[in-house]
Amino acid sequence: MLVTAIEARPLRSLERVRVSLGPGIVSVVGPNGVGKTNLVEALYFALTGRSFRTADRRDLIPFGESLARAEATIRDDGIERRLLASVSRTEGRRHLLDGQSADPATIARSRPPVAVFAPDRLSLVKGPPAERRAHLDGFLAARWPARAELRKRFGQALAQRNAMISRLAAGHGSPEGLDVWDAGVAAAAAPLIAARAEAVAELAPAFAAALAELGLEHGELAYAPRAAGDAEEIRAGLRERREADLKLGRSSWGPHLDELKLSASGRALRKYGSQGQQRAALLALLFAEREALLDARRVTPLLLLDDVMSELDPGRRELLVARLAAGGQTLITAADEESLPPAARETMVRMPKPGLVDDERVDPDALGDPGAEAA
Ligand SMILES: Nc1ncnc2c1ncn2[C@@H]1O[C@H](COP(=O)(O)OP(=O)(O)O)[C@@H](O)[C@H]1O
Ligand SMILES: [Mg+2]
Repeated sequence: MLVTAIEARPLRSLERVRVSLGPGIVSVVGPNGVGKTNLVEALYFALTGRSFRTADRRDLIPFGESLARAEATIRDDGIERRLLASVSRTEGRRHLLDGQSADPATIARSRPPVAVFAPDRLSLVKGPPAERRAHLDGFLAARWPARAELRKRFGQALAQRNAMISRLAAGHGSPEGLDVWDAGVAAAAAPLIAARAEAVAELAPAFAAALAELGLEHGELAYAPRAAGDAEEIRAGLRERREADLKLGRSSWGPHLDELKLSASGRALRKYGSQGQQRAALLALLFAEREALLDARRVTPLLLLDDVMSELDPGRRELLVARLAAGGQTLITAADEESLPPAARETMVRMPKPGLVDDERVDPDALGDPGAEAA
């Protein structure tokens, strides 16, 4: 499965821009402000329906306009498909597969897993644990599609238990009513904890190796589950904490409090890492995940590396590109060509000036009626 083209029409400063992608590394070069990050965002938006920069998709709408739209072309087994994401001030958002609305699970199966490195994405390393849990669960879903629902199922069970706790606090029902919800939470928690543990065990060696390559020795990726054991043990643990949870008004124990620890030489990078070390850790985590996905030969993961070269010294740039050349699709952006090692310059695209379609192979009719999807 490959992404063969991305088109923003429009998105932020990009009025209408199309860039073709090959199977390996594509470098997009252009001066600061030309819209490289916007292009990366457009690709991410087309594939996932979300932005990695903002929770409010309307930020993607060009100033003074009412609609943002991005389309990715994906080739899978010789079949070409199109994923189109749009957000409109008046119509809300859409995510269409070949022009039809499709449920998120179908869309997820129709696109490659995508990971983003951007200088302002360090919150994954230094932010609260919830971001790392969500990220880890995203990896789970890409690595083992059958486990994609574990996170959601647990979230639903937890919400039900918490709702029951609130009812009890308001004086409705009796504490025994919690038995069924304890069992539900335990049944959903155990497989999620086991899957997270397996994922981290798989990622840890590759994380340490990639981090060392980026100049940081003794890296460690570790899973710190708040609750452990099989469903029966977790059910018993919840029962033990019932009084405390009723006082607190919520569930104080379970995988919704797990942590994914990134450290080097025994120090938590979240707290003690320098900016550069945190960047290295983010890259190492993304590399480890990519390697795991490639090894599992599921689908070719797509890695988006925004402005990564400026963060690295020349020796490390070479190592990075060598690693990327080993497999998988990558989009790299860079402000200056010189920062790209030769191997990454072979497939270089100059960022088209805003408003222009760079690629004369584009058939304007194939772009469809600009108003159609928003209607
Ligand atoms: N919603 C928006 N509408 C129009 N332009 C925008 C919007 N959001 C950001 N921009 C513009 O996009 C430009 C930056 O693009 P960016 O992709 O960050 O450039 P680069 O990554 O190449 O340095 C800035 O000029 C900024 O004002
Ligand atoms: Mg940028």
